[in-house]
Amino acid sequence: MISDSVNFIKNKLLNFEPEIGIVLGSGLGELADEVNGITIDESGELPDFPAPTVEGHKGRLVLGEFEGKNVLFMQGRVHYYEGLSLDKVTMPVKVFKLLGVKTVILTNAAGAVNKRFNPADLMLITDHINFMGVNPLVGKNNDKLGTRFPDMSEIYKKNLRDLAKKCAADLGIKLREGVYLATSGPSYETPAEINMFRLMGADAVGMSTVPEAIVANYCGMNVMGISCITNYAAGVSDKKLSHSEVIENADIAKKDFKNLIRKIVKNL
Ligand code: HPA
Repeated sequence: MISDSVNFIKNKLLNFEPEIGIVLGSGLGELADEVNGITIDESGELPDFPAPTVEGHKGRLVLGEFEGKNVLFMQGRVHYYEGLSLDKVTMPVKVFKLLGVKTVILTNAAGAVNKRFNPADLMLITDHINFMGVNPLVGKNNDKLGTRFPDMSEIYKKNLRDLAKKCAADLGIKLREGVYLATSGPSYETPAEINMFRLMGADAVGMSTVPEAIVANYCGMNVMGISCITNYAAGVSDKKLSHSEVIENADIAKKDFKNLIRKIVKNL
């Protein structure tokens, strides 16, 4: 039950009220190590919380003051391809909501569909395409969290995107912008699929974020999304795809990534 996790965290938190929730994707979890706060190990302590099984995802909740704000970090996430329901995959986001979070920053590693993008680029998500074939809101609606048919016209809020762009410009970080398309994974895409995704308007492809963004928007939270481009998507270059390349390029991008997130949080 979500309420068990929420109560568990509330007991640990004492008077800590998180205003920002940040989900750290593949290879990007290090940021939470820099927070001086309370760490909750999901795999053990947190009732019912899903524990990640993928390399590059630690699976911890870290709560603390970060750049002057009360922030709740999900260090690593779970994915649909791990065999979990989207209800479980999006549980951390619902926990964010029930703890009072207003703004959610979702991050991920993604492949470049847009041929102008390069590995280690950062991309601000302007919108998404749900190509997973499933939707996290299927099932009985919880009217306390949101409406049955939520509007999705502006999930990734313009004011947050403007803020991210300003922070990147101030830091001299090149920030791409584009549409993120999510597949269920876990296999990478074929070159034919990537060509189709490009025709559909996608700039980057990955296996996460979209379910969390749908649920965060549904719950009335403001969403920002940042992709770390970790590889050329299938067929964009001659190179074969591998998870180790994803982790290597996330590592190269992480300095800019961390500086950007810090500045965004400070200015939120
Ligand atoms: N495809 C799908 N998911 C990904 C990729 C990719 O190329 N890179 C990182 N996550």
